[in-house]
Amino acid sequence: MSAAPQVRLRKAAPGDALDVLAWRNDPVTRAMSRVQDEVEPATHLAWFRSALDDPALTLLIGEAEGEKVGMVRLDHGAVTEVSINVSPACRGRSLGYALLSQALAQVGGAVVADIRTENLASQRLFERAGFRFLETRDGLRRFVRAAD
Ligand SMILES: CC(C)(COP(=O)(O)OP(=O)(O)OC[C@H]1O[C@@H](n2cnc3c(N)ncnc32)[C@H](O)[C@@H]1OP(=O)(O)O)[C@@H](O)C(=O)NCCC(=O)NCCS
Repeated sequence: MSAAPQVRLRKAAPGDALDVLAWRNDPVTRAMSRVQDEVEPATHLAWFRSALDDPALTLLIGEAEGEKVGMVRLDHGAVTEVSINVSPACRGRSLGYALLSQALAQVGGAVVADIRTENLASQRLFERAGFRFLETRDGLRRFVRAAD
């Protein structure tokens, strides 16, 4: 088995907006999202601009071998919520694990992830990253990683 390429994580920047839009509108991502509608570019660009300045949000971009391979989003509420989207071209190569584990290293407290029942790849990924199934709410399976 070949090793997954080295992933470097950095904060998102304005120049990442269209990559993040393309990954968000990918049909598999949409099928696995809470809100499944295609996002319009203008709506996305306005959201992305404000998200970069929002202290309650952290958007992280992963790069491997000079290529953008995916993103991790951290929503800093009472408990931190994490979501991840690997570029469609880069899925199935363990890059999701590399992205997620590096992002989690930046979070001290408990972290939750809400995952659709049918999203087995994501559930595997989060379990491998130390999350445990907690409960089903609003049709989503909630996984939690306790505080360190
Ligand atoms: C879910 C996602 C983040 C996983 O990232 P990835 O880099 O493709 O995943 P990996 O290659 O690390 O595989 C994760 C695990 O799922 C398994 N897996 C992959 N496809 C699977 C499938 N269809 N059914 C069951 N398991 C599957 C892999 O074997 C691996 O398990 P292992 O570590 O025990 O071998 C990525 O596929 C993605 O971005 N999907 C679309 C968006 C999404 O669903 N985001 C998560 C929302 S909660």
